[in-house]
Amino acid sequence: MAGLIPQAFIDDLLHRTDIVEVIDKRVALKKQGNNFTACCPFHQEKTPSFSVNQDRQFYYCFGCGAGGNAIGFVMNFEQSEFPQAVENLARDAGIEVPREESKTQQRKSSENAIIIEVLELASKFYQYQIRQHEKKSSAVTYLQERGVSGEIARDFGIGYAPTGWENLLTSIGTDDKRQQSLLRAGLIIERNQDKTQNKITDNENSRANGRNYYDRFRERIMFPIRDSRGRTIAFGGRVLNDDKPKYLNSPETAVFRKGSELYGLYEAKKFGEKFNKLLLVEGYMDVIALAQMGIRNAVATLGTATSSRHLNRMFRQVSEIIFCFDGDDAGTAAAWRALETTLPLMEDGRQVKFLFLPRGADPDTHVRAVGQDKFLEELSSAPPLEQFFFDKLSQDLDVNSIEGKARLSNLAKDYIRQIPHGVYGQLMLDRLSELLGVNSESLEKLLATNSPAQESSSPPAENLPPAHPNEWQRSGRHQNLSSNLSVYRKPASLKAIELLLRNPEIALAVSIDLKPLRTAEDEGRKLLLSLIEMVKKDPNTETFTLLGYCYGTSLGNQLTQLLTAEKITPQEGVEDEFLQILDNIMSDIVKKLELLQLKHDLQSRLYAPKDQN
Ligand code: UTP
Ligand code: MN
Repeated sequence: MAGLIPQAFIDDLLHRTDIVEVIDKRVALKKQGNNFTACCPFHQEKTPSFSVNQDRQFYYCFGCGAGGNAIGFVMNFEQSEFPQAVENLARDAGIEVPREESKTQQRKSSENAIIIEVLELASKFYQYQIRQHEKKSSAVTYLQERGVSGEIARDFGIGYAPTGWENLLTSIGTDDKRQQSLLRAGLIIERNQDKTQNKITDNENSRANGRNYYDRFRERIMFPIRDSRGRTIAFGGRVLNDDKPKYLNSPETAVFRKGSELYGLYEAKKFGEKFNKLLLVEGYMDVIALAQMGIRNAVATLGTATSSRHLNRMFRQVSEIIFCFDGDDAGTAAAWRALETTLPLMEDGRQVKFLFLPRGADPDTHVRAVGQDKFLEELSSAPPLEQFFFDKLSQDLDVNSIEGKARLSNLAKDYIRQIPHGVYGQLMLDRLSELLGVNSESLEKLLATNSPAQESSSPPAENLPPAHPNEWQRSGRHQNLSSNLSVYRKPASLKAIELLLRNPEIALAVSIDLKPLRTAEDEGRKLLLSLIEMVKKDPNTETFTLLGYCYGTSLGNQLTQLLTAEKITPQEGVEDEFLQILDNIMSDIVKKLELLQLKHDLQSRLYAPKDQN
């Protein structure tokens, strides 16, 4: 194997991943109260007892007892080993799995947590200012004039960065450490570092005050950008007048990658209605205006072109995307680029449409001009990708002439080849042959000529048998006698780990000295010690984080199966049971150490005299 997957990476992956997205992609979930439910994919049932808790990022089946975090689900569902499950989730999240245990990674993830914390504080600060600042009225009036209600402002966490160079700096950057975090979060700028953006005027003044930094966002309406879990990872700030730049965005930071985030995605998910389509627009205010008009499923890229990472994230939520760019040349160009990016992602079952707006309009102005009903109507009759595709390609051609047909087939074929094999690609071919007036067979022959080197034609991964059929897993799944026996005979350390996984807080009750455990060579005991230490270090550690840690060890699979095989035990007595097992393990270790010492003493006594001769 290519090395261990660093724990910090797994933590980070779990934080970036939303278990609801992961499961919903494989088993359709229904929202019910705070949870999501479905019929359990791990046993036969008619009424749903499978439940997913978004806050705790955990799934559990009340019928068969299967349970775990996002990684565990993928392992179980796809019958894959831990590394494969991590790979799959990472690919979905658009990140690469690093293969090396490194301290830097660990440090990074805790640094990220600090950055997120300070961003959250900043978001609260800006929202407070829009309610309390003495000059709040300019911001409030601006929003009112643009038709943004208090409710929408609240839902999107809209705030106000007041005039002045050090508002955030002095309120949040109260010590050196905080200032460093603000700097890494992109919220303040080091003086004399950025000569392009800021005038030196204020510098003299502030240097006299001994300040080295100033606020990035001043006199702007603030839009927090949240990740899919709702954590604020960056901001966009709009001027209240016609100054330039109109929008200022956070720079890329350790927690913010512009090219893959979507403004409004979290808010759309949170809205409580399960959408089957998403609308992709260009601007913050487009998302806000649509929401204001009751259309709560719009998201925006952040001033960057639509990337496949954006699209993958959207397709993880819905099967249909409608692009709705501004009605100007830039918007039309963006639409074609979006189409090009989309083609390789057009798997069967996915649908893409393009809503073109009148010249000069953007979704914000348009929806306000025509109203919700008309807009929804336009959305539902928006031309599908294939129509836009052929219209655009044949725009300047005479498709009735031989030459025009040749040009069209030439232009189209390289695009159509990029579509994954399946019904959709076939549909495009049929449409092309219709336009060309040739039958599909001859067209396919035509396309087959001078095609670029074919990629390997191996079947898709899900059709392959699992790489390592795992007997243990299989018997565990059927809950037969042998799996019950293996549960019965499991070592004490595993039993303790299991209790701890189900109730992380019991680690806090451990008061005995665990030093002897450090000498343990047994995997289970080593793991037990690490887990207890994790919880002691951070009492808020949750089951899914602990599980993430376990999956990375040689016992990972076994533990998943333990959690899967048994139902949750009654709460009372768990702590006592855990402490009792721990005591037993400790006395076992101490006994062994004593024996070892005794043996050592005896040996040295027996052999020492002889050696001297
Ligand atoms: P637009 O200029 O179309 O903005 O830019 P808009 O949403 O219509 O803005 P309003 O209605 O005047 O408020 C679209 C997006 O491009 C990025 C922003 O993400 C913006 O939402 N942008 C635009 C910037 O990052 N900086 C800019 O100066 C302008
Ligand atoms: Mn606009």
